[in-house]
Amino acid sequence: MAEQPDAVRWQIRVQGVEQVIQAGSGETLLSALEQAGVPVRHACRNGVCEICEARLIAGAVTQRYPALQIQAGGDAPLLRLCAAYAASDLELELMPYAWKR
Ligand code: FES
Repeated sequence: MAEQPDAVRWQIRVQGVEQVIQAGSGETLLSALEQAGVPVRHACRNGVCEICEARLIAGAVTQRYPALQIQAGGDAPLLRLCAAYAASDLELELMPYAWKR
């Protein structure tokens, strides 16, 4: 079933990407980045393979697998873009292996 972006839109900044990306709170961050043309590697799209990981520099996300609420700062775990949804404006640092280059 296709994801339906909802009315709440967050601004997503990705280190190394000039444009500010819009993401609905009902669409995965992977989907939002793909629609903006950011070359993110992915495989499972279910939060399992860990290839699409990013560090949360600022903001908060809800991740469905593993199910977590992640806040930036401290020892926050890496998030999986394919399973994570913005819960605020965000700044992200994609892990080197998450770039499709
Ligand atoms: S594509 Fe596998 S964890 Fe995101």
